[in-house]
Amino acid sequence: MNTFYVTTPIYYANSLPHLGHLYTMIVGDTLARSKRQRGVETYFLTGTDEHGINIERAAQQNGRTPQEQADYVVSYFKEMTSKFGLDTAHGGYDVFMRTTEPFHAEGVSELWRKIAKSKTPKGNDAIYKGHYEGWFCAPCAEYKTEDEYQKPKVEGDPPLCLIHERPLDRVSEESYFFRLSDYDKALLSVLESRPDFVRPESRRNEVTSFVRGGLQDLSVSRLKSSVSWGIPVPDDPSHTMYVWFDALTNYITAIGYGNKEREQAVGFEKFWPAMHLVGKDILRFHAVYWPAFLLAADIELPRAVVAHGMWVDPAGRKMSKTLGNVIELDVLHKPFPIDVIRYFVLREMVFGQDGRFGYEALIDRANSDLASGLGNLSSRTLTMIARYGDSRIPSGVIPEEKLLLAKRAGVDTDETIAGFVEHARNQFLEHLDNLAFSRALEAAWSVVARVDKMITDAKPWDLAKDENQRQTLGAVLYRAAESLRWLTVLLHPVLPESSQAMWKQLGLSGSPGQVNPSSLKWGELKEGAAIGDVQPVFPRIDKAKVMAEITGEKDVPAKPAEPSPPQEHATQADAVGITSFIEIDDFAKVDLRVGQVLSAERIPKADKLLLLKVDLAEEQPRQVLAGIAQYYEPEKLIGRKVVIVANLKPRKLRGLESQGMVVAASYGEEGRPVLATFTEDVPNGARLK
Ligand code: MSP
Repeated sequence: MNTFYVTTPIYYANSLPHLGHLYTMIVGDTLARSKRQRGVETYFLTGTDEHGINIERAAQQNGRTPQEQADYVVSYFKEMTSKFGLDTAHGGYDVFMRTTEPFHAEGVSELWRKIAKSKTPKGNDAIYKGHYEGWFCAPCAEYKTEDEYQKPKVEGDPPLCLIHERPLDRVSEESYFFRLSDYDKALLSVLESRPDFVRPESRRNEVTSFVRGGLQDLSVSRLKSSVSWGIPVPDDPSHTMYVWFDALTNYITAIGYGNKEREQAVGFEKFWPAMHLVGKDILRFHAVYWPAFLLAADIELPRAVVAHGMWVDPAGRKMSKTLGNVIELDVLHKPFPIDVIRYFVLREMVFGQDGRFGYEALIDRANSDLASGLGNLSSRTLTMIARYGDSRIPSGVIPEEKLLLAKRAGVDTDETIAGFVEHARNQFLEHLDNLAFSRALEAAWSVVARVDKMITDAKPWDLAKDENQRQTLGAVLYRAAESLRWLTVLLHPVLPESSQAMWKQLGLSGSPGQVNPSSLKWGELKEGAAIGDVQPVFPRIDKAKVMAEITGEKDVPAKPAEPSPPQEHATQADAVGITSFIEIDDFAKVDLRVGQVLSAERIPKADKLLLLKVDLAEEQPRQVLAGIAQYYEPEKLIGRKVVIVANLKPRKLRGLESQGMVVAASYGEEGRPVLATFTEDVPNGARLK
């Protein structure tokens, strides 16, 4: 049967998603839409990885149970996927998989049992009991790998934990092992016989040399006394399964492996094998461990493991919570339409290589390729059809006797333009299937450039003045409109919202998602049909304004040193309760104090700022600037108790020094601030802990 199953990694349920997570989902979503559009029955999986010590710890830090912690992050993920149009309701994923689902535990246990019963290619038991020995940090309650500890200065001394800077203990613990070392030959033969198994080629080479270098057996369980939040090892509940064994198996349990009901509802037989999309950071798990587990269980291997590069900031640094340069999704979502973000990430990252993300680059691309490019082509074409053709699609036929005139005016013959657009379509689809999104989009934009040039050369506004050139005028506009119809169909998987809008403006009914791009035929746009209302599809983005808005919310990675207004109130991510997790010591660094507003006044020429004098029971009141002028009358603040970040480095704004920051919640699209306050009496200067 003609089916397609595509997966993203399932994301850890201990922190909020950011651009990196969003990116893999956009790629999966684009592929899924493109396959569906071509009539292929498609299943698209994303989800969360909810077991293991890190989730347990995050839960503890937040005073939740691990399940509550997972539910909490999942609710944010779901809200975000809905906002970005990636959920089922918007035609996106088919399943949001969670590893805490009971049917998943059934399937994982089944896989474990099957592997535990099997022999390796060398005739050994695939799973055996042994001892895991490693460097353990007691405060972290975790074994540390080489990149997680600092080598000792004196040889023979234990290494130091990077977090606690204390010596690690050498600990040995009973563990089940998967005999990975017996699978090297089998894996190498897969890598050699299936050149497309790991993509792109550079990653395949990397995996091949890793396997050639010799494989170590893999510890696949932890004692329940060390890690309890997870799936118990079948028939030995004193052990918890290794979280990666549990997580990787989601790809098959989601579609029904090990659970009859689920198999009937989705279909393991129907959809497996999958194409796994992963970041290069987790390639080894997907291209070595996972295939080895499947080989041991005698299950067909994935269709392919495709690794993309990482998003780095404009300075080339990897995005990480510690560096503070991750792109938070609520900040990204606010000023930019979803399709603009989709277009940018797919166009900008050469698939497989790292890509730079900067807001300025995003705005520049959106303005050049979308507003001035595709968007402008659509509105100029339709506006001219409205003006010169009474809002009806003109005839594209040029009578024999007018052919020369039309040619002189720079109008392509039907065959030439049809040939050009068909070639671009074929290129587009080929690149898309090879995950070369950037090149696919270049192919589509070659049509934009060609039609733009034809319009510029033919000058329809001049042709309209000459009755003798009526057919030439009609032909130019018809060719432009028909090319736009093709483009909207092609671009539907990349730009689902705006392609729908363009489709409607062309006067077409239904959705471009229902048209198979492979069966498009030139000339099917009906002469005489009425076009819809013409509206700009990609309004120009005001760079200065949007950059100011963004820097007001978050430092922009492009220019970390650039002065940005203070964050008077928290972002929406904070409204959901989680940013990246911090230690209690990190929180203790923030000195939050109760203060009382003594005076409040507006600042001339700064319509957002109020100048507050706040009593923190110090020698002198503090002067604090707060960006709340549009929401609070200054008079009404006098006497009010507020929360002040008292140890924030003083900074100047509009020539006035701000000696702290007022804490406020923020909600709604415009980030409306609501000042934090107290319902009980509390003295000025009291510290919040
Ligand atoms: N839970 C595991 C995956 C288990 S899959 C069976 C995990 N989760 S994660 O939350 O850390 O997400 C990892 C994935 O997020 C990466 O592989 C990649 O798909 C995406 N990205 C995270 N940061 C990224 C960038 N900076 N750039 C691009 N993608 C990145 O690992």
